[in-house]
Amino acid sequence: MAKNHGELYNVLGWGDAYFAVNAEGHLCAKPHGLKTMPGQEIDVHSVIMKALATTTNDNKKVQFPVILRFPDVLEDRLNTLHAAFRSAIDNSGYKSRYQGVFPVKVNQNKAVVQDMVNFGYSESYGLEAGSKPELLIAMSCLTKAQPGAYLICNGYKDADYIALALSARAMGLNAIIVLEMEEELDIVIEQSKMLGIEPVIGVRAKLLTKIPGHFGSTAGKDGKFGMLAEKIYEVAEKLKKMDKLHWLQLLHFHVGSMIPTTEIVYNAASEATGIYCNLVNEHGAKQMTTLDCGGGLGIDYDGTRSGNSDMSVAYGMEQYASSIVQAVRLKCEYNGVPHPVLCTESGRAMASHHSMIILEALSAIPEPQDEDTAEQLLSKIQDLHSRQQPRTAAVNGGDADMCSHAEDLKKHGIEMYKLGKKLSKRVTGDTQPIYNYHMNLSIFTLVPDFWGIKQLFPMMPVSRLNEKPTLMGTLVDITCDSDGKIEKFIGGGETLPLHPLDPKHGGYYVAVLLSGAYQEALACKHNLFSGPSIVRVKAAKGGNGAFEIVSADLGPTSEEIISTMRYDVMKDISSVIEERAKKNDVWAMVEPLMTNGLTTMPYLNEYKAPKTT
Ligand SMILES: Cc1ncc(COP(=O)(O)O)c(C=O)c1O
Repeated sequence: MAKNHGELYNVLGWGDAYFAVNAEGHLCAKPHGLKTMPGQEIDVHSVIMKALATTTNDNKKVQFPVILRFPDVLEDRLNTLHAAFRSAIDNSGYKSRYQGVFPVKVNQNKAVVQDMVNFGYSESYGLEAGSKPELLIAMSCLTKAQPGAYLICNGYKDADYIALALSARAMGLNAIIVLEMEEELDIVIEQSKMLGIEPVIGVRAKLLTKIPGHFGSTAGKDGKFGMLAEKIYEVAEKLKKMDKLHWLQLLHFHVGSMIPTTEIVYNAASEATGIYCNLVNEHGAKQMTTLDCGGGLGIDYDGTRSGNSDMSVAYGMEQYASSIVQAVRLKCEYNGVPHPVLCTESGRAMASHHSMIILEALSAIPEPQDEDTAEQLLSKIQDLHSRQQPRTAAVNGGDADMCSHAEDLKKHGIEMYKLGKKLSKRVTGDTQPIYNYHMNLSIFTLVPDFWGIKQLFPMMPVSRLNEKPTLMGTLVDITCDSDGKIEKFIGGGETLPLHPLDPKHGGYYVAVLLSGAYQEALACKHNLFSGPSIVRVKAAKGGNGAFEIVSADLGPTSEEIISTMRYDVMKDISSVIEERAKKNDVWAMVEPLMTNGLTTMPYLNEYKAPKTT
């Protein structure tokens, strides 16, 4: 039996029951997670082949890059979350229920949001919105939800936002306006009076419990969002004076995405429950029903389960749910307060696994080898080091000097690190070249979190995993930007094991996994590259990896992306080109080229990959 090299990429670590490598050496998706039966795994390479032979609704060919969405995985994630809370509630004697929401900001795509509402119907699963457009999406999608499903209205709000949220209540939706700041209450009072609609409100607590790392930087006492406990009590007193305390029904908190450990989950829930109990016992908010624990349920991008970086969490859904249920139960029982309905706004953990980005390799070119000897490299390092010494005296010269000194240290430190690595390669005789794999990709559009916050996603070839990948590659995109290169991978490596390109194997594809959360909404339009094609794939009856492509949509064409820059494509582009081309008597040649350019996606099309040398 051929050796399976999938483990080079730690599939078992981060795959979390949804991914594997099959006997043909192809990446496959397990559509029903742990409940996937043998023979139900969907071969990703076969999906790509079928997608490329599929035409879109408007009769166009699917172009790269492509996102493959697996709605079955979305459904399984949602079911697993509900099962985790059900079991934690049943096992602990908790006397209320779980009723969650999907934060629309995590993936606003129509199919994703509609699927979430549909899959969560029996659990009264709802939606969370953080802006007016998200609220409009949520209002329309929740018309199909179980009555009573929450519509949590978060984010900073103006009168229009609040009026819209109130109108959602008038439509019979369970909209809850969560106050980020005390001032928002005045707008709620005013709009409620004007429209004659009674609001239900929540308050967002700013907790002292913090998470470390990037995602915790806006939380804590000095955080950007919510109100400290004392301010929340003032809001309750203000409502009491107006005889409107019954409006207040929910307490919300969100300590940040990717909470690394269950200890922090527990501490945050316990601290928030303390505030909840004080609202009920000390301030008479007897209509309080719900504790909304926000997002933060993390996923293990690097598959280490260590929880010691922004890429990893040290728990699964069961432990997360049980930490919240225990913390809230104990605090409520201590204070003699009835158990609240537990809500979470888990986003990343719901959406990440269900979609993968498929990148097509265009060419693989070895990086030029370094010419310097070990002695020359050492002398460069010593030179950089000695240049830093005299600056230490300047550190006492005030803030500006401190900052410029820190900047210098950073710059020289990075340079010295790079030289040190080259030196270590020279000394150990590691002369394996690094190959730059040019991929049909814009990092800024497809994996913006890699560029913006150095988020790492698991990446691996889709096929040939029975064959040892013999080259070490970086992934270079086709933008004209030096940041458009992926040279950091999960596990800390600066290269990814890849295969030599060989046309006899057909195209070579690399999958970016766990990428279903945030990436599409954060995407930017650098060089006017646009979003990917989207292909939705469902498991079909009959086993043997049977699947069905339920929809295939091309990403935005050049015409569409140009128009987002305020051009009227007809007036400002096509007719201007036409006029000049006609004047030069070349319109017959220019016209089809221009039309093709405008109506296709901006990425490279039908590129013939040369064989790796
Ligand atoms: C208020 C709020 N709720 C929910 C979420 C979703 O968080 P996550 O994707 O970590 O579950 C966020 C994202 O940061 C948020 O700001």
